[in-house]
This record gives sequence, C-alpha cells and structure tokens, in this order.
Amino acid sequence: MEDKKRVAYIIGTRPEVIRSATLIKALKSDDSIVFSLVHTGQHYDYLMDKVFFEEFHLSDPDINLEIGSGSHSEQTAAIMVKLEKYFEEFKPDIVAVFGDTNSSLAAAITTVKMGIPLAHIEAGCREYEMDMPEEINRRLIDHCSNVNLTVSELCSDNLKAEKVAGDVIFCGDPLYDVYKECSQTDGDSEILKEFGLEPDKYAVMTAHRGKNVDDDDNLRNIFSAVSHFGDIPVIFPVHPRTKKHIDEFYLSKENVSNLIMTRPLNYHEMIQVVKNSKFAITDSGGLQKEVYWSKKPCVTLRDHTAWIETVNEGVNFLSKPESGAIISKIDHILDNYDEIVSLFSDNSDVYGSGDITGRIVSNLKKYAGKKW
Ligand code: UD1
Repeated sequence: MEDKKRVAYIIGTRPEVIRSATLIKALKSDDSIVFSLVHTGQHYDYLMDKVFFEEFHLSDPDINLEIGSGSHSEQTAAIMVKLEKYFEEFKPDIVAVFGDTNSSLAAAITTVKMGIPLAHIEAGCREYEMDMPEEINRRLIDHCSNVNLTVSELCSDNLKAEKVAGDVIFCGDPLYDVYKECSQTDGDSEILKEFGLEPDKYAVMTAHRGKNVDDDDNLRNIFSAVSHFGDIPVIFPVHPRTKKHIDEFYLSKENVSNLIMTRPLNYHEMIQVVKNSKFAITDSGGLQKEVYWSKKPCVTLRDHTAWIETVNEGVNFLSKPESGAIISKIDHILDNYDEIVSLFSDNSDVYGSGDITGRIVSNLKKYAGKKW
C-alpha cells in the first residue's frame, strides 16, 4: 500500500477534459497509483464540462475548486490558494498539468512552491506570440517542470534549445489516443441530419481566441469571409466567450445565411462533423490536429501555430482575421482540393503513435517522488 504513487491530475477547461480522457481512465484504473482528479472549475457550463464526463464515462473529479470566470489574475490566484490547501491534505508524489491554460499555470506554480515534482503534458509548444496568454502560461510551466512530456520531436527540440531545467521526453499526443478511440466508435450521422449537412459539402468553423472574438472588426471579418462562400454551409459550434461577443456586437445570423450557429458540440459529434466536412476554419489548437488526422484541409485563424508540422506539410494555411486573407486561403483550398488532400501521408506519426497514454502513465510513475 505504501509503495503506491500518489498522482494528482489537474483539469479545468474543456480541452483538458477531452485531451485527458484516456489518460484519466488509465491512471484511475492503475493499481499502483492513488489517483486524484482535481477540477479547478475554470469551465463550468454543462456543455463545456459535464457533458464530456458523461460522454467519456469519467467518474466525477475528487475535488472541484469552483473558481469560475474572472480576470487572469483572479483565476490564477484563486486556484493557487485553494489548491495549496488540497495538496496539504492529499500529499501528492507528483502533480500532472496539461497544456497552457490559467488552470495549468496556477497548478504548476502551486506545485513547485510546495516542492512537489511537476510533470507537464503537451510541453514545448511554441507560437511565438508573447501577447497571447497561453504562450506565457506554457513557457512558465515548461521552465518549472521536473519532466516535460512532449507531443512531437519539434516540441522536444524547442525545450532543449531553451535549456529547460527538467527532463524532456517525447511521448506523443494523448489527444491522438482519444481521437482514435472515438473514430472507431462513431459511425452514425445523426448530427449531420440534425443540421441538414451533406458529407463533403460543408465546412466546419470554430473561433474562441481573444484576438479573434473579443475584437468587433475581427469577428465581423471572419463572418464576412464565410458569407463570401454563400453556397457552402458552415457549421459553427459557438464557444460561450464568442457567444457573448456575437451578442455584444449585434452580429446576427441573418447577415450570414450559410452560417449554421450551434450549441457547443460533444466530442463524438464534433469528430463526426470534422470527418465528413470538406475543410475547416479554426483558431483552436486541438481542432487543427483533429482536422489533420481526418485528412481535411484547414484555414487556421492565427499568425502562428504550435502545430507547424501541418503547415509544412501544405495542408494547414495560416490567416489573419481579415476577410480578404481568409477568402484567398479558402479559394486556394477549393481550387487545389485534390492536390492538397493527396499531401496527407498515410501513416504520419508526427504526433506520436502506439500506446501514447501508456508512455505518459509510466513516466508519471517514474517521476513520482523524484525531486530536483
Ligand atoms: C480557455 C483557455 C484556452 C483554451 C480555452 C478552451 C486560458 C488563458 N485560456 O479560454 O487556452 O483554449 O479555455 O475553451 O486559460 N464561459 C462561460 N462558461 C464556461 C466557461 C467560460 O460562460 O463554462 C465564458 C465566461 O464569460 C468567461 C469566458 O467564457 O469569462 C472565457 O472563459 P475563460 O475560461 O476565461 O477562457 P476561454 O476563452 O474559455
């Protein structure tokens, strides 16, 4: 009993729940681990959170810190204060955080301040946009982690170039395991029927980054680019942050007849929608990879992307949130569609392959209790 490793795993937002789904199950069912799932409560709406626990059959978090919305400092500070108390009780041998959210940064700082070993999953991503909160978060976490588990060789190279203090280990992307599992189990096209979509005849769009949706002009530009392709329906599951600004800017669906605005979709629905689409428009990190694994071209509404491999392969096109720029990228995709699709390699393992989840679990066990 005493030999068991005490692992605390931190989640707080929709992507962390999705990307961790197979990992959480593997950690929870591992007899050599005492597992604690900590939810910060950064995302709290049913469709941004609980729906995924139900969908992936995850048991409830062991604790929810219920910090909710707020400024970055409010969120970060509230998590740190509550988490410190929880760690004093749970006494983790290692804490694992994911990616680049305020929840992950807050948990990382709390962990290192308490002298507990820290593992960063999805470490080493760089977009070189220092005015993006996620870029700051991920850099700070990488530099205080005892072990950085990366999703690609390029991410490992980034960390080695920055001479991070902790170890760097390429494990692959745990989201790929979730995607593969979900791809095997999907198969019904209820969601396409619900929105009247025909395979390969529509596009899928998501946008939630501050730069794109908090700015009236940028959000309008994105809508205007979509309206340019009036004969292509564009399904647009709307993030709560985006919804707030659409309402605030009086951007109504009436102006863009081919835009199908929907509630946030669950993961299986989203993968179904992506796999049957013609192309995607997004500013989400996770979606760029799901679109890539689905072998669909993508327009990414960003100046940079952490997933530069997809751009280098010639299947993902970066665009500023300017209507002319977005239109020209979509025109390029439509004019060269077959050629672009032929660029997807059949067995790309750029984001890892095999048992990615298993590799992460064994590294968490290996580094548990291992201080600097
Ligand atoms: C956060 C992450 C981002 C991640 C995204 C996924 C940070 C800095 N950003 O951005 O990296 O890609 O999650 O969604 O941590 N809201 C609700 N209900 C919810 C959650 C949010 O209404 O359940 C609204 C609130 O008005 C809130 C706003 O959305 O103020 C933004 O939420 P927040 O968690 O601050 O950041 P996200 O934009 O979701």
